[in-house]
Amino acid sequence: MNILFLGDVVGRAGREGAAAALPKLRDALKIDLAIINGESASHGFGLAPDMAQSLFAAGADVITLGNHAWDRKEIVPYMAEHPRVIRPLNFPPGTPGGGSILVELADGRRALVMNAMGRLFMDPLDCPFRLTTVELSKYKLGHSVAAIVIDFHAEATSEKMAYAHSFDGEVSLVVGTHTHCPSADHQILPGGTAFQSDAGMCGDYDSVIGMGKDIATARFWRKLPGERLNPAEGEATICGTFVQTSDATGLAVRIEPIRTGGRLSQTLPSV
Ligand SMILES: [Fe+2]
Ligand SMILES: [Fe+2]
Repeated sequence: MNILFLGDVVGRAGREGAAAALPKLRDALKIDLAIINGESASHGFGLAPDMAQSLFAAGADVITLGNHAWDRKEIVPYMAEHPRVIRPLNFPPGTPGGGSILVELADGRRALVMNAMGRLFMDPLDCPFRLTTVELSKYKLGHSVAAIVIDFHAEATSEKMAYAHSFDGEVSLVVGTHTHCPSADHQILPGGTAFQSDAGMCGDYDSVIGMGKDIATARFWRKLPGERLNPAEGEATICGTFVQTSDATGLAVRIEPIRTGGRLSQTLPSV
């Protein structure tokens, strides 16, 4: 299975860039399953229904969220009707939406996509390690599902690495989101799980993690509550990761980073 995962879409630049790139990447990389993190799509904070709709129309199969899941509250009723928008599974019991979704591909293969959130330097939540274990106990990779992808939305690389090692061999891919900066540690772990500690963002990198650099920088200099942050509006670099899995085992056989458009050094796998 060819899997595309794109990191946090930030603001208009990210939305337009991702919507333009998704169909091209799907085609060029012969993608079977495309997942994108949408938590920062709306001005950096949250995801509005029309934005989810346009990412789905461009070719996303699943949209994941994170700590900004509820910044646009209109997404709550939308998620009730569109369960392919998922939020971290370790949000408190009773939280709207689901933390995972079983997707059936056009050819009948089934893939499980999950979203969990870390706790280091983040809001206190239920334990993502234990709740992921509970969720995974319902499925068997390579048997009941052909692939399992987890978006682990977290700040700390240490927590992301510990999480990935915990589920090595049980899932196809653990990919981090939230830092908005792509890491160069993409690898297949010894048990066969592909891992990259952060996918990076789909946004303008002439910025402070996607937000306009002047106001964002001034906040550090002056410690004054400044003006409202606005997303940077230059061309987005579309950042993410490409993973191929074996249908026999569901484990990864290849992981390659993707950085296309905008300012970052460019890399695109050939398939
Ligand atoms: Fe984000
Ligand atoms: Fe986040």
